[in-house]
Amino acid sequence: MNDLEMYREQLAICDDKIIDALVERNSIVEKIMAYKETYGMPILQPAQEAKQQHRLEEKLRDNKYQEEIQDVFQRILRNSRRIQARKLFSYNIVLIGFMGSGKSTISDYLSTVFDMKLVEMDQVIAEKEEMSIPDIFATYGEEYFRNLETNLLKELQTGQNCIISCGGGVALRQENVVEMKKNGRVVLLTASPETIFERVKDSNDRPILDGNKNVEFIAGLMEQRREKYEAAADVVVQTDNKTIVQICEELISKLMELDGK
Ligand code: S3P
Repeated sequence: MNDLEMYREQLAICDDKIIDALVERNSIVEKIMAYKETYGMPILQPAQEAKQQHRLEEKLRDNKYQEEIQDVFQRILRNSRRIQARKLFSYNIVLIGFMGSGKSTISDYLSTVFDMKLVEMDQVIAEKEEMSIPDIFATYGEEYFRNLETNLLKELQTGQNCIISCGGGVALRQENVVEMKKNGRVVLLTASPETIFERVKDSNDRPILDGNKNVEFIAGLMEQRREKYEAAADVVVQTDNKTIVQICEELISKLMELDGK
């Protein structure tokens, strides 16, 4: 055997070790999940993840392959997140609620921590139409926009393990709610009119609130919509005065409860 052949054999042995280590690592990730479930512990533990990352950085300091190895660990971390997500949610998570209730923020966080695909409905519609939401309303009217929402929701039913962040009006059509529930669990985020006002007061991309940006209008419209939102929801999470992690943790545990986990 020449040297080259010998190196190739050594490389194959290394690859086998990596495979064995990854299999072991993934099964430990599953054990951690099961432990947290059994003892009702929070699924999200950002402090622990930061600690793990810090440990890796220390270990790799002065290592000549530091960058390459960190790159691999990013992948490993993403895959761990995916393993957790698949174990927890075999369906789409559909977020509904009033404008400013936190749908986009919470969807964004969830999609990152579980490496789940994120569909921000307003954004997809704006991209497809090559127009902003206010321009769609101004040019074609609200009914046209609502039909775009229904069509998109229907298209989304082929996906699984996605986070779908709906525009605030999506859950008002019964037809849309039927679509959401085909493949997903519906999470309603709520907040008081005062909190909503604080969150939306500086944005100009919500035509429904044009010239109506005040607590009274918000409270009135919210009350009009409340019954439909609540009827659509599988779980409700109130968001006032809570951190993103607290809201997500509550959302996850309520979904797990719903699934009898
Ligand atoms: C709407 C909410 C908006 C957007 C459109 C109409 C509504 O989405 O879809 O301006 O009727 O509540 P956000 O809830 O994400 O602001």
